[in-house]
Amino acid sequence: MSAAARVVDYDTIADRYDRRYALYRYDGVREALTNFLAASGGGGSPAAEGRAVLEVGCGTGHWLQAVAGCASFVAGIEPSRPMLGRARRAAPHARLAQACAESLPWRDASFDRLFCVNALHHFSDRERFFREAHRVLRPGGGLMTIGKDPHAGRDEWWVYDYFEETREIDSRRFAPVRVLRGELALAGFAWVESFEADRIEAVRSAADAFAAGIIDRSFTSQLTVLTDEEFSRGVERIRQADVGRRAAGGALQLVADFHLYATVGWI
Ligand SMILES: C[S@@+](CC[C@H](N)C(=O)[O-])C[C@H]1O[C@@H](n2cnc3c(N)ncnc32)[C@H](O)[C@@H]1O
Repeated sequence: MSAAARVVDYDTIADRYDRRYALYRYDGVREALTNFLAASGGGGSPAAEGRAVLEVGCGTGHWLQAVAGCASFVAGIEPSRPMLGRARRAAPHARLAQACAESLPWRDASFDRLFCVNALHHFSDRERFFREAHRVLRPGGGLMTIGKDPHAGRDEWWVYDYFEETREIDSRRFAPVRVLRGELALAGFAWVESFEADRIEAVRSAADAFAAGIIDRSFTSQLTVLTDEEFSRGVERIRQADVGRRAAGGALQLVADFHLYATVGWI
């Protein structure tokens, strides 16, 4: 299967999606979001507690839950019905709709803040989404998107090491943050910036990772998009490497050390 054609089916992993939040804290993402929602923004933006906020690609509602109380109106959109069902339970305060980023079901100038966490790389037309985001934002409003930039070459990740196809798939799905900034400017955002929001670091033995269910198709979309054969080949590579380390008296350690960048556009 070509890397460009890969689409993640979130319907099939919705029941296991939130396991990642028991493993990693994402404190940097939380802080970046909180600061973004509280920032004064451009002229005409109301005080933080009076604002309207939309998460695009809200998944199971983890971040909608986290921002409850940061705004007077919180909304989320999500195309996967099973993910949205979970979001309804996690964030009962939020107005939710089944929809796609490329066609936001809201009138012009409806929100003060929009955000996406680990979702932009799934959108089929990023530039169209940025135009839509600009359309639904009010004067002084802003959009923040948080995600990886595999093009920066700073990440070490066992997923890339053992599931060899994932590196190329990600380099196609994710744009460099400088490209995102350019696209936001083209969509009409007047001020654009990006910064490192979080660094995820974890080392775990392969045995622990198998036992904790981390080496699983639902753990990360990089594994969900693989074919069964590609996934099995990666699992086998890990098993073989572990056998080799054990024969030498050790145990295979799986390293995750990657960065999440926030890119922000203000109207
Ligand atoms: C990795 S999950 C992130 C969910 C949530 N933001 C979080 O951080 O937990 C990516 C989400 O983007 C959604 N998604 C995929 N394509 C989309 C699109 N075109 N418009 C909006 N959301 C989309 C998926 O269904 C999935 O729930």
